[in-house]
Amino acid sequence: MELPSAHGQKGGPEIDISTEKASLAAQFSQNGFVRLPRLCDESELAWVGEIFDKFFSEGPGRASIRDIVGAGDGAPEMGKLPQVLLPEREVPELLDGEFVRNARSWASVLLDIPADDLEYFGNLVLKQAHEESVTPWHQDEAYFDPKWRRRAVTLWMPLGDATEDNGCLRYVAGSHLGGVVPHRHVEGNDDAEGLEAESQEQPSVVSCPVLAGEASAHDVRTLHSAGPNRTAQPRRAYVHLFAGPGEIEPNPQPRPWQKDGQGR
Ligand code: NI
Repeated sequence: MELPSAHGQKGGPEIDISTEKASLAAQFSQNGFVRLPRLCDESELAWVGEIFDKFFSEGPGRASIRDIVGAGDGAPEMGKLPQVLLPEREVPELLDGEFVRNARSWASVLLDIPADDLEYFGNLVLKQAHEESVTPWHQDEAYFDPKWRRRAVTLWMPLGDATEDNGCLRYVAGSHLGGVVPHRHVEGNDDAEGLEAESQEQPSVVSCPVLAGEASAHDVRTLHSAGPNRTAQPRRAYVHLFAGPGEIEPNPQPRPWQKDGQGR
């Protein structure tokens, strides 16, 4: 796809995380999520926003869109909860951005795994203006292959301020300390690509609003969801998942909700 002009995204200053990192890592361990400071500056944010909009506008990028509520078979409409998996395959320049570099540093701190040992997966998610659909409660690990034990973290970086009104993430604190709960395909529709926890009732919920370019980070076992977007602006987010090395799980629990070959 055609890119916005480059703007020197390489070699920007690293954000100093030394003073806060111990306390934020402790919050992450205790609660299973934490709000992180900004991952990049305004110019990078604008650059990511241009790339994001190209993916979601009419044109070749549209072929990359999948809908977690829909069947994920390249439906012509964007659907309710559209996303682009691995946008870096089409736009590898994204991998050189300050946001991915800083996200990797934070992931290393939060997981206590060397940055170079972390495998990276990017994802762009859009909740359009006045979209009433909720992103259902789920654990990211429900998508993982149960034969492997992998520690991993998701950093969710909105490109504009994320609020309760436009669908910031919300969490069940401490839910990362249990196992992976039963999941099913969204709304019980086996053709839907996305997964949701069988139980959508949560006893206590913490909303995590974050400003543009900041991130909310969660353990892949933390139960999370997002509300509708009740504003007149789209809510755009760049999601960074970092996974540590896999170890064979000695006692794998079946995840029957996964389609053949879906576990990753
Ligand atoms: Ni998720």
